[in-house]
Amino acid sequence: MSVSNILTNVNIATLDPVVNRPYGLVRNAWVRWREGQIIDLGTGSPGLLNGERHIDGGGGVLTPGFVDCHTHLVYGGDRSDEFEKRLQGKSYSEIAKEGGGIMSTVRATRKAGEEELFESAKARILRALKSGVTTVEIKSGYGLNLEDELKMLRVIRKLNQQLPVKVHATCLAAHTVPNEYAGSADNYITDICRNLLPLVARQELAEAVDIFCEKIAFQPRHARQLFACAESLGFKIKGHVEQLSQSHGSNVLCEFSALSADHLEYLSEDQVRAMQQANVTAVLLPGAYYFLKEKQRPPIAALRKYRVPMAVATDANPGSSPVFSITTAANLASLFFELTPEEAIRGITVNAAAALGYENSRGMLKKGYDADFCLWPIESPVQLVYELPAVCPQAIWINGQQLDSGNL
Ligand code: NIG
Ligand code: FE
Repeated sequence: MSVSNILTNVNIATLDPVVNRPYGLVRNAWVRWREGQIIDLGTGSPGLLNGERHIDGGGGVLTPGFVDCHTHLVYGGDRSDEFEKRLQGKSYSEIAKEGGGIMSTVRATRKAGEEELFESAKARILRALKSGVTTVEIKSGYGLNLEDELKMLRVIRKLNQQLPVKVHATCLAAHTVPNEYAGSADNYITDICRNLLPLVARQELAEAVDIFCEKIAFQPRHARQLFACAESLGFKIKGHVEQLSQSHGSNVLCEFSALSADHLEYLSEDQVRAMQQANVTAVLLPGAYYFLKEKQRPPIAALRKYRVPMAVATDANPGSSPVFSITTAANLASLFFELTPEEAIRGITVNAAAALGYENSRGMLKKGYDADFCLWPIESPVQLVYELPAVCPQAIWINGQQLDSGNL
């Protein structure tokens, strides 16, 4: 049997609900792992096993590796010109209607080769890693045709194979209606269902399927058609809903027992209740709220009242949320959405893992869970939410392997 590893002299933010303290914090603790899995953790003096590798944590805080459960990290070009336009008063929807917005990134992404997309996304993921991200979800959605959606998904697969960070791929071909299908969103959705999704399934290029349900994109009936097809092919389901108006996309997500409903600024109390009943995680994206200077906030009090798990993600993308640090997203969620720092940290660990279907293996430090964790030179987990930029981890382990300090 391979040797075990033990990290001692740490304060462990387990996030385990069984540990009935803020952050599930266990002080003066240790954690033992073997072959990528936590085998035990406890307090006091553990005693070393035969041949065990020992590391002293120097009294720092250990958290689960953070999970960024909603990003668009693969793209060509940038949209700094639109940032300037928005500062002069143009809205995100106006820019989209004039052919900018998502379509502008689609043009740049279609032009870019796979190597170029890989290298630029790799640099962004390494930035995310410096904020403690060990699992990241990445959506396609800037190809919007068979060839370029598959190209994006292959880049996402290569990132998963070549980087230490665990990458979860989501197919977002239904991000907006491409020019080739202008005025016929129905035909575009049918094309995705008939031609793209079966190929994505066969080539195992994505785990989930997503849609942008909004006046400037798709309607609930499109979501219903897309999800029925996605479900039959074995994909998990997620959606961008109730972001700029009440799109009713969340209702369709509930019909399909989706993993998550994301954005949610215009979500009503009835819709919150439906999410609770269908066990759908709420993914809050304060970066987009901040960069779009939105006024409407997601219904946090109702989400709390109905105990809908709240995840927090960066939504990293070149338009509505050029935010690459998950601890920054946690800070924004506290200040703009009034999440407590503990809720914000639960949002980037246990609840974010649930938003990707990893609730039994990631997002908590607990026996049997993946040995993905970060050691921070701080005394209390609140310090991860309190400063901008937050401190960087002093060490990161993914699947039990410590990363080279060159990555940090
Ligand atoms: O999550 N809402 C739609 N999609 C992205 C924006 C992507 C973009 O503007 O390029 C979002 O905010
Ligand atoms: Fe998004």
